[in-house]
Amino acid sequence: MRIAVMRADELAPGEHRVVQVGRRSIGVFRVGDEYYALADHCPHQGGPLCRGRVAPLATAGAPGEVALDPDRLFVACPWHGWEYDVTTGQSFLGPGEAPVRSYPAEVLPGDLTPDPVTGRVPGPYVADTYAVTVEDRVVVVDTSARRAAAPAPGVEETAP
Ligand code: FES
Repeated sequence: MRIAVMRADELAPGEHRVVQVGRRSIGVFRVGDEYYALADHCPHQGGPLCRGRVAPLATAGAPGEVALDPDRLFVACPWHGWEYDVTTGQSFLGPGEAPVRSYPAEVLPGDLTPDPVTGRVPGPYVADTYAVTVEDRVVVVDTSARRAAAPAPGVEETAP
């Protein structure tokens, strides 16, 4: 189903809005002049992902030399802080606010190789994403097909 959700100029670069499409709640994000849509449902435990804080990727070439990349936006789920790249839906490790108490840990297959673009380590989740087009200056979200997400580095795809 393809649904016009807003005029393209209603969002400035870096802004987003959560819209209701039927029974679905979807976050529509503008990154530069491109638009992306994520399900407002965190794959971790179902939190309202797109209601979280949105910020550009911060990198530092040296102590005190922080640069923000407006073309790489991340949304942090308000429930537990997992961060997702809004352009792909890929999760990244949380903010690292380790509690004092300890928890059981186990070793699972995986790879902690940083993503070559973001320099961050991909997490285990990928939020649902949808195709977005701008037609006659109207943002259109297509919920009929989820966009394919690339598997995280070190995660092998399995046959359906
Ligand atoms: S439900 Fe989103 S981080 Fe836990």
